[in-house]
Amino acid sequence: MDLGLAGRSAIVCASSKGLGRGCATALAEAGCRVIVNGRDAERAQATAAEIRAATGAEVGVVAGDLGDPRVRAALLAACPEPDILVNNNGGPLPAPFEAITREKLLAGLEANMLTPIALAQAVLPGMAARKFGRIVNITSASVRAPIAGLDVSSGARAGLTAFLASAARKFVRDNVTINSIQPGVFDTDRVRATMGADPAKLEQRKAGIPAGRFGAADEFGALCAFLCSAHAGYVTGQNILIDGGAFPGAF
Ligand SMILES: NC(=O)c1ccc[n+]([C@@H]2O[C@H](COP(=O)([O-])OP(=O)(O)OC[C@H]3O[C@@H](n4cnc5c(N)ncnc54)[C@H](OP(=O)(O)O)[C@@H]3O)[C@@H](O)[C@H]2O)c1
Repeated sequence: MDLGLAGRSAIVCASSKGLGRGCATALAEAGCRVIVNGRDAERAQATAAEIRAATGAEVGVVAGDLGDPRVRAALLAACPEPDILVNNNGGPLPAPFEAITREKLLAGLEANMLTPIALAQAVLPGMAARKFGRIVNITSASVRAPIAGLDVSSGARAGLTAFLASAARKFVRDNVTINSIQPGVFDTDRVRATMGADPAKLEQRKAGIPAGRFGAADEFGALCAFLCSAHAGYVTGQNILIDGGAFPGAF
Protein backbone atom coordinates (compact mmCIF):
# COMPACT_ATOMS: atom_id res chain seq x y z
CA MET A 1 0.00 0.00 0.00
CA ASP A 2 1.25 3.47 -0.85
CA LEU A 3 0.94 5.36 2.43
CA GLY A 4 0.78 8.70 0.65
CA LEU A 5 3.67 10.06 2.69
CA ALA A 6 6.25 10.81 -0.01
CA GLY A 7 7.77 14.23 0.62
CA ARG A 8 6.36 14.55 4.15
CA SER A 9 8.65 15.41 7.05
CA ALA A 10 8.78 13.71 10.42
CA ILE A 11 10.34 14.39 13.81
CA VAL A 12 10.83 11.06 15.55
CA CYS A 13 11.87 11.58 19.17
CA ALA A 14 14.15 9.08 20.91
CA SER A 15 14.71 7.14 17.71
CA SER A 16 18.35 6.06 17.66
CA LYS A 17 17.27 2.55 18.65
CA GLY A 18 14.30 0.45 19.69
CA LEU A 19 10.70 1.36 18.94
CA GLY A 20 11.55 4.92 17.89
CA ARG A 21 14.06 3.61 15.38
CA GLY A 22 11.39 1.25 14.03
CA CYS A 23 9.10 4.23 13.47
CA ALA A 24 11.84 6.37 11.87
CA THR A 25 12.75 3.54 9.51
CA ALA A 26 9.15 2.85 8.46
CA LEU A 27 8.51 6.55 7.83
CA ALA A 28 11.72 6.84 5.80
CA GLU A 29 10.68 3.79 3.79
CA ALA A 30 7.37 5.54 3.10
CA GLY A 31 9.26 8.49 1.61
CA CYS A 32 9.43 10.90 4.54
CA ARG A 33 12.32 13.14 5.43
CA VAL A 34 13.07 12.08 8.99
CA ILE A 35 14.82 13.64 11.98
CA VAL A 36 16.39 11.07 14.30
CA ASN A 37 17.09 11.88 17.96
CA GLY A 38 18.86 10.35 20.96
CA ARG A 39 21.25 11.54 23.67
CA ASP A 40 24.21 9.54 22.36
CA ALA A 41 25.20 11.58 19.30
CA GLU A 42 27.39 8.87 17.83
CA ARG A 43 24.63 6.28 17.95
CA ALA A 44 22.09 8.73 16.53
CA GLN A 45 24.45 9.51 13.62
CA ALA A 46 25.07 5.81 12.99
CA THR A 47 21.35 5.06 13.02
CA ALA A 48 20.66 7.93 10.64
CA ALA A 49 23.36 6.66 8.26
CA GLU A 50 21.90 3.14 8.34
CA ILE A 51 18.36 4.36 7.67
CA ARG A 52 19.64 6.57 4.86
CA ALA A 53 21.50 3.66 3.29
CA ALA A 54 18.53 1.31 3.63
CA THR A 55 15.84 3.66 2.35
CA GLY A 56 17.48 6.45 0.35
CA ALA A 57 15.56 8.95 2.47
CA GLU A 58 16.90 12.24 3.77
CA VAL A 59 17.64 11.66 7.45
CA GLY A 60 18.79 14.41 9.80
CA VAL A 61 20.03 14.14 13.37
CA VAL A 62 19.36 16.24 16.44
CA ALA A 63 21.27 14.71 19.32
CA GLY A 64 20.42 15.55 22.91
CA ASP A 65 18.14 15.02 25.87
CA LEU A 66 14.48 15.73 25.11
CA GLY A 67 14.10 17.05 28.64
CA ASP A 68 16.24 20.03 27.65
CA PRO A 69 14.11 22.77 26.04
CA ARG A 70 17.09 23.70 23.83
CA VAL A 71 17.05 20.20 22.32
CA ARG A 72 13.33 20.46 21.65
CA ALA A 73 13.96 23.86 20.02
CA ALA A 74 16.72 22.30 17.90
CA LEU A 75 14.34 19.56 16.74
CA LEU A 76 11.84 22.18 15.65
CA ALA A 77 14.57 24.24 13.99
CA ALA A 78 15.72 21.18 12.03
CA CYS A 79 12.16 20.52 10.91
CA PRO A 80 10.20 23.77 11.23
CA GLU A 81 7.09 22.50 9.44
CA PRO A 82 6.75 18.87 10.51
CA ASP A 83 3.91 16.84 9.05
CA ILE A 84 4.51 14.09 11.59
CA LEU A 85 5.61 14.05 15.23
CA VAL A 86 6.35 10.75 16.92
CA ASN A 87 6.54 11.42 20.64
CA ASN A 88 8.83 8.91 22.32
CA ASN A 89 11.29 9.04 25.18
CA GLY A 90 13.18 6.82 27.57
CA GLY A 91 10.93 5.27 30.19
CA PRO A 92 11.31 5.35 33.97
CA LEU A 93 13.05 2.28 35.35
CA PRO A 94 10.85 -0.13 37.31
CA ALA A 95 10.76 0.61 41.04
CA PRO A 96 8.85 -0.78 44.01
CA PHE A 97 5.89 1.41 44.97
CA GLU A 98 7.49 2.24 48.32
CA ALA A 99 10.64 3.57 46.58
CA ILE A 100 8.85 6.19 44.48
CA THR A 101 10.12 9.55 45.67
CA ARG A 102 8.72 12.90 44.63
CA GLU A 103 11.87 13.44 42.54
CA LYS A 104 11.30 10.18 40.62
CA LEU A 105 7.68 11.06 40.11
CA LEU A 106 8.51 14.51 38.78
CA ALA A 107 11.20 13.11 36.47
CA GLY A 108 8.73 10.58 35.04
CA LEU A 109 6.06 13.23 34.53
CA GLU A 110 8.60 15.49 32.84
CA ALA A 111 9.85 12.80 30.46
CA ASN A 112 6.66 10.95 29.60
CA MET A 113 3.95 13.58 29.96
CA LEU A 114 5.20 17.18 29.93
CA THR A 115 7.87 16.80 27.22
CA PRO A 116 5.55 15.16 24.66
CA ILE A 117 2.85 17.72 25.50
CA ALA A 118 5.31 20.59 24.91
CA LEU A 119 6.23 19.20 21.50
CA ALA A 120 2.60 18.59 20.55
CA GLN A 121 1.69 22.14 21.56
CA ALA A 122 4.56 23.48 19.47
CA VAL A 123 3.59 21.67 16.26
CA LEU A 124 -0.22 21.57 16.36
CA PRO A 125 -1.03 25.12 15.20
CA GLY A 126 1.21 24.80 12.13
CA MET A 127 -0.14 21.37 11.28
CA ALA A 128 -3.70 22.71 11.48
CA ALA A 129 -2.84 25.69 9.28
CA ARG A 130 -1.26 23.36 6.69
CA LYS A 131 -4.23 20.95 6.87
CA PHE A 132 -2.14 17.87 7.51
CA GLY A 133 -0.66 16.54 10.71
CA ARG A 134 -0.12 13.25 12.47
CA ILE A 135 1.00 12.92 16.06
CA VAL A 136 1.72 9.45 17.41
CA ASN A 137 2.61 9.03 21.07
CA ILE A 138 4.45 5.89 22.08
CA THR A 139 2.98 5.10 25.49
CA SER A 140 2.59 1.62 27.01
CA ALA A 141 0.23 -1.29 27.52
CA SER A 142 0.55 -0.33 31.19
CA VAL A 143 -1.83 2.57 30.55
CA ARG A 144 -4.51 -0.07 29.93
CA ALA A 145 -3.62 -2.70 32.50
CA PRO A 146 -1.29 -2.26 35.49
CA ILE A 147 2.25 -3.60 35.46
CA ALA A 148 3.78 -3.83 38.93
CA GLY A 149 6.76 -1.53 39.35
CA LEU A 150 5.86 0.75 36.43
CA ASP A 151 3.58 3.08 38.39
CA VAL A 152 5.44 6.26 37.42
CA SER A 153 5.55 5.30 33.76
CA SER A 154 1.88 4.29 33.71
CA GLY A 155 0.69 7.42 35.50
CA ALA A 156 2.65 9.82 33.30
CA ARG A 157 1.54 8.12 30.09
CA ALA A 158 -2.09 7.96 31.22
CA GLY A 159 -1.85 11.69 31.91
CA LEU A 160 -0.47 12.32 28.43
CA THR A 161 -3.23 10.22 26.89
CA ALA A 162 -6.00 12.04 28.75
CA PHE A 163 -4.48 15.47 28.18
CA LEU A 164 -4.42 15.04 24.41
CA ALA A 165 -7.80 13.32 24.10
CA SER A 166 -9.68 16.58 23.74
CA ALA A 167 -7.11 18.10 21.35
CA ALA A 168 -7.47 14.99 19.17
CA ARG A 169 -11.12 15.93 18.60
CA LYS A 170 -10.40 19.63 18.17
CA PHE A 171 -7.71 19.27 15.48
CA VAL A 172 -9.15 16.40 13.41
CA ARG A 173 -11.30 18.91 11.51
CA ASP A 174 -8.03 20.23 10.07
CA ASN A 175 -6.83 16.74 9.11
CA VAL A 176 -4.54 16.60 12.14
CA THR A 177 -4.79 13.42 14.18
CA ILE A 178 -3.40 12.44 17.57
CA ASN A 179 -3.17 8.78 18.51
CA SER A 180 -1.17 6.62 20.88
CA ILE A 181 0.38 3.23 20.36
CA GLN A 182 0.53 1.10 23.50
CA PRO A 183 3.33 -1.46 23.19
CA GLY A 184 3.26 -4.73 25.07
CA VAL A 185 6.65 -6.42 25.24
CA PHE A 186 9.02 -5.69 22.36
CA ASP A 187 12.49 -7.03 21.82
CA THR A 188 14.53 -3.89 22.54
CA ASP A 189 17.48 -2.91 24.72
CA ARG A 190 15.10 -1.48 27.31
CA VAL A 191 13.33 -4.78 27.71
CA ARG A 192 16.62 -6.67 27.93
CA ALA A 193 17.83 -4.15 30.55
CA THR A 194 14.68 -4.35 32.65
CA MET A 195 14.06 -8.10 32.36
CA GLY A 196 17.67 -9.21 32.60
CA ALA A 197 19.51 -11.52 30.24
CA ASP A 198 18.53 -14.87 31.80
CA PRO A 199 17.36 -16.89 28.75
CA ALA A 200 15.08 -19.12 30.86
CA LYS A 201 13.30 -16.08 32.29
CA LEU A 202 12.92 -14.52 28.85
CA GLU A 203 11.47 -17.75 27.42
CA GLN A 204 9.04 -17.97 30.32
CA ARG A 205 7.94 -14.40 29.65
CA LYS A 206 7.45 -15.13 25.93
CA ALA A 207 5.40 -18.22 26.76
CA GLY A 208 2.97 -16.00 28.67
CA ILE A 209 2.21 -13.97 25.53
CA PRO A 210 -0.38 -15.58 23.21
CA ALA A 211 1.85 -14.83 20.18
CA GLY A 212 4.62 -16.81 21.92
CA ARG A 213 7.21 -14.12 21.21
CA PHE A 214 8.17 -10.52 21.82
CA GLY A 215 7.25 -7.91 19.25
CA ALA A 216 9.75 -6.54 16.72
CA ALA A 217 10.51 -2.85 16.27
CA ASP A 218 9.79 -3.02 12.54
CA GLU A 219 6.23 -4.26 13.05
CA PHE A 220 5.75 -1.47 15.59
CA GLY A 221 7.10 1.00 13.01
CA ALA A 222 4.70 -0.28 10.35
CA LEU A 223 1.72 0.43 12.60
CA CYS A 224 3.07 3.89 13.35
CA ALA A 225 3.56 4.61 9.64
CA PHE A 226 -0.01 3.58 8.89
CA LEU A 227 -1.34 5.90 11.60
CA CYS A 228 0.72 8.68 10.00
CA SER A 229 -0.48 7.82 6.51
CA ALA A 230 -2.76 9.75 4.21
CA HIS A 231 -5.34 6.98 4.77
CA ALA A 232 -5.63 7.46 8.52
CA GLY A 233 -7.17 10.92 8.68
CA TYR A 234 -10.36 9.48 10.21
CA VAL A 235 -8.51 7.73 13.05
CA THR A 236 -7.94 10.04 16.02
CA GLY A 237 -7.94 9.92 19.79
CA GLN A 238 -7.27 6.19 19.68
CA ASN A 239 -4.94 4.16 21.88
CA ILE A 240 -3.88 1.15 19.90
CA LEU A 241 -2.55 -1.84 21.73
CA ILE A 242 0.13 -3.94 20.00
CA ASP A 243 0.95 -6.76 22.38
CA GLY A 244 0.70 -10.17 20.70
CA GLY A 245 -2.65 -10.75 22.40
CA ALA A 246 -1.36 -10.30 25.95
CA PHE A 247 -4.19 -8.04 27.14
CA PRO A 248 -6.85 -10.48 28.33
CA GLY A 249 -10.01 -8.45 27.55
CA ALA A 250 -12.51 -9.32 24.82
CA PHE A 251 -12.67 -5.64 23.84
N1 LIG B 1 10.08 -2.15 24.44
C1 LIG B 1 8.97 -2.40 25.07
O1 LIG B 1 8.56 -3.55 25.21
C2 LIG B 1 8.14 -1.27 25.65
C3 LIG B 1 6.91 -1.57 26.23
C4 LIG B 1 6.14 -0.55 26.77
C5 LIG B 1 6.61 0.75 26.72
N2 LIG B 1 7.85 1.01 26.16
C6 LIG B 1 8.28 2.40 26.14
O2 LIG B 1 8.59 2.80 24.82
C7 LIG B 1 9.68 3.72 24.84
C8 LIG B 1 10.79 3.22 23.94
O3 LIG B 1 11.25 1.99 24.46
P1 LIG B 1 12.37 1.11 23.73
O4 LIG B 1 12.15 -0.27 24.22
O5 LIG B 1 12.38 1.39 22.29
O6 LIG B 1 13.69 1.69 24.44
P2 LIG B 1 15.22 1.60 23.96
O7 LIG B 1 15.46 0.44 23.07
O8 LIG B 1 16.00 1.71 25.23
O9 LIG B 1 15.43 2.93 23.09
C9 LIG B 1 15.23 4.18 23.70
C10 LIG B 1 15.58 5.28 22.72
O10 LIG B 1 15.29 6.53 23.34
C11 LIG B 1 16.48 7.35 23.39
N3 LIG B 1 16.37 8.15 24.60
C12 LIG B 1 16.25 7.71 25.87
N4 LIG B 1 16.15 8.74 26.70
C13 LIG B 1 16.21 9.87 25.94
C14 LIG B 1 16.17 11.26 26.23
N5 LIG B 1 16.04 11.71 27.49
N6 LIG B 1 16.24 12.14 25.20
C15 LIG B 1 16.38 11.70 23.92
N7 LIG B 1 16.42 10.40 23.60
C16 LIG B 1 16.34 9.50 24.60
C17 LIG B 1 17.62 6.33 23.37
O11 LIG B 1 18.84 6.88 22.93
P3 LIG B 1 19.94 7.44 23.99
O12 LIG B 1 20.04 6.42 25.08
O13 LIG B 1 21.17 7.65 23.19
O14 LIG B 1 19.36 8.73 24.50
C18 LIG B 1 17.07 5.33 22.36
O15 LIG B 1 17.20 5.82 21.06
C19 LIG B 1 10.11 3.86 26.31
O16 LIG B 1 9.48 4.98 26.87
C20 LIG B 1 9.56 2.60 26.93
O17 LIG B 1 9.33 2.74 28.31
C21 LIG B 1 8.60 0.04 25.63
